[in-house]
Amino acid sequence: MKTSLTGIKPTNLPHLGNYLGAIQPALSLVDEYRTLYFIADYHALTTVRDAEALRGHIRDVAATWLACGLDPERTLLFRQSDVPEVFELTWVLSCLLATGQLERGHAYKDALSRGESPSAGLFNYPALMAADILLYDTDIVPIGKDQKQHLELTRDVAMRLNHIYGDDTLVVPEALISQAPLVRGTDGQKMSKSKGNGIPLFEPPKKLRKSIMSIKTTSEGLEDPKAAEGSTVYDLYALVAPERALQMKQKLASGGYGWGHAKEDLFQAIEAEIGPKRDAYLAMRADEEQLDAILHAGADKARQIARATIQRVRSAVGID
Ligand code: TRP
Repeated sequence: MKTSLTGIKPTNLPHLGNYLGAIQPALSLVDEYRTLYFIADYHALTTVRDAEALRGHIRDVAATWLACGLDPERTLLFRQSDVPEVFELTWVLSCLLATGQLERGHAYKDALSRGESPSAGLFNYPALMAADILLYDTDIVPIGKDQKQHLELTRDVAMRLNHIYGDDTLVVPEALISQAPLVRGTDGQKMSKSKGNGIPLFEPPKKLRKSIMSIKTTSEGLEDPKAAEGSTVYDLYALVAPERALQMKQKLASGGYGWGHAKEDLFQAIEAEIGPKRDAYLAMRADEEQLDAILHAGADKARQIARATIQRVRSAVGID
């Protein structure tokens, strides 16, 4: 069985876009792959400067994935920081990476172009990410388009190491660029935390309802026929309740059905899907001991794979 691995940065409370665009697709891979999903807490440190918030986000993310159906018996769920071998590999890889490659990194270049003075951590972010992937003999990495460059760099440095030290030292991974649908937020743009257009995943139903009611729509009257195509309300409905999408489309087209009605139907559909998961999330989030125990058990297993890789790398480079 091939290995699929991905990292989740604990920088915010997951929203509906994360659920539909990342969590669901990643969970659908468990039958086909050996899956490792980890919480990239050291990566988050490039932006999060509030220790208590980071501690909270790590558990938020763990509880979210578990509530959405991640089975820790089948998927290794762990914290990046619980496997310190990742730093050993980061160093070895750094010695093979040209600074020019890191200077071309999107995140680093964007920070420079905003006039910020990026930290060395942000500069080295891709080296740590390459180590994350290569440490676990990963075959495929499900990612969004924004992470493509990181994957190319990972493949590049793995091939370089293999070329210099022997072909069977590292597994060269491939990106699985997600076919995940575009999930639009309340303003019609791609849902993203930084744009403030997110629809909450596990906040109380009242807040969810309020957020859905704030989705931008066109301004026809109640009786007017309306086009489903291009409307955020309909698109979201089609993602959450595909079997009833046609029905909504017809109601919109025939008139007498307002955007308020459509939003109410959308709210009901989302609530039916995530309500039970919210309950599971709240229960899990409240039991931090149990949550930490799951993460530690995942890390123990992940660490066995990591140790074997580090052993191979050390002996390949002459440090054994
Ligand atoms: N950089 C990824 C992001 O911002 C998170 C990440 C860290 C990751 N390490 C990884 C993703 C390893 C895939 C594999 O979303």
